[in-house]
Amino acid sequence: MATMKAVRIHQYGGPEVLKYEDAPRPQPGPGEVLIRVHATSVNPVDWKVREGHLREMMKYTLPLIPGWDVSGVVESIGAGVMRLKTGDEVYGRPDISRNGAYAEYIAVRESEVALKPKSLDHAHAAAIPLAALTAWQALFDAAKLAAGQTVLIHGAAGGVGTFAVQFAKLKGARVIATASKKNHDFLRSLGAAEVIDYNTTKFEDVVHNVDAVLDTITGETMERSWQVLKKGGILVSILQPPSAEKAAAHGVRCAHVFVQPSVAQLDEIAGLVDSGKIKPIIERVYPLSEARAAQDSNQGGHTRGKVVLKVL
Ligand SMILES: NC(=O)c1ccc[n+]([C@@H]2O[C@H](COP(=O)([O-])OP(=O)(O)OC[C@H]3O[C@@H](n4cnc5c(N)ncnc54)[C@H](OP(=O)(O)O)[C@@H]3O)[C@@H](O)[C@H]2O)c1
Repeated sequence: MATMKAVRIHQYGGPEVLKYEDAPRPQPGPGEVLIRVHATSVNPVDWKVREGHLREMMKYTLPLIPGWDVSGVVESIGAGVMRLKTGDEVYGRPDISRNGAYAEYIAVRESEVALKPKSLDHAHAAAIPLAALTAWQALFDAAKLAAGQTVLIHGAAGGVGTFAVQFAKLKGARVIATASKKNHDFLRSLGAAEVIDYNTTKFEDVVHNVDAVLDTITGETMERSWQVLKKGGILVSILQPPSAEKAAAHGVRCAHVFVQPSVAQLDEIAGLVDSGKIKPIIERVYPLSEARAAQDSNQGGHTRGKVVLKVL
């Protein structure tokens, strides 16, 4: 059996359960492509899976390879693959219920990957799919954010937030962001009109009548967000379904977004990247063998943009 280097978990737990080791090399099934992974990136879901938080929902069989972002080159294609061919440079968000991309190879459905932005190397392309698709779907599919509207983005300096700020600004919306002080100039440079230091200012004291709130934090941040919305506005959480009763009591709407694959959206995002309108923000690149340190750094909760794992 052909093998590859991969990072796997054989049990749930802390960073120490991440093992850099030999694993079976996957084969593409019908409708799938085998990708030679060049880079992947760390998302909070990676360490949430590692700790076992999604084990009921996903019914994983261990060992499991984490990593649900990929940028790489199509190595081979399975039966029935029509759109992609061997040698294509692709990026995407693999199915979170299957093995991820902390590995030299991954087999994914053709419908999960698109041609990567031509102007970026694989490390930068791998920083995009999961976070950017989430931001896109929250702002445009759920909130239907339009030019001239105002959006409050919580966690604006993070993986999802850095894309959300850029997408909202590009749409012509006014962006108010929450972040700690060290990220304020950075977020203004991405397009935020106003940045609130959540450590020293209660956002609800200074923000009123916004059309939409994108909440990437939850807890009391979500609870305090109802009151800053205008009547008919919308609170979108990417962490949990907000209370429909509380929404009704405030005369607003709410939605929960769980990121879905979309080749059309990946294509559109690649176009925006290649035309210089959107850029991924990378805090640090680690080699795959240092996945523990990479996850540790993201789990600290203060990543600016993304942490990337370079495989090739
Ligand atoms: N539903 C979905 O499909 C989906 C998809 C992607 C992510 N998620 C979830 O969404 C959450 C965010 O993901 P992410 O990738 O953006 O995470 P991340 O990159 O790890 O977020 C880190 C950022 O959060 C900021 N932050 C921390 N506490 C804050 C607070 N109280 N107020 C405002 N900002 C705060 C930090 O800014 P400072 O350093 O300035 O404090 C940091 O830049 C995670 O829980 C993730 O699992 C869900």
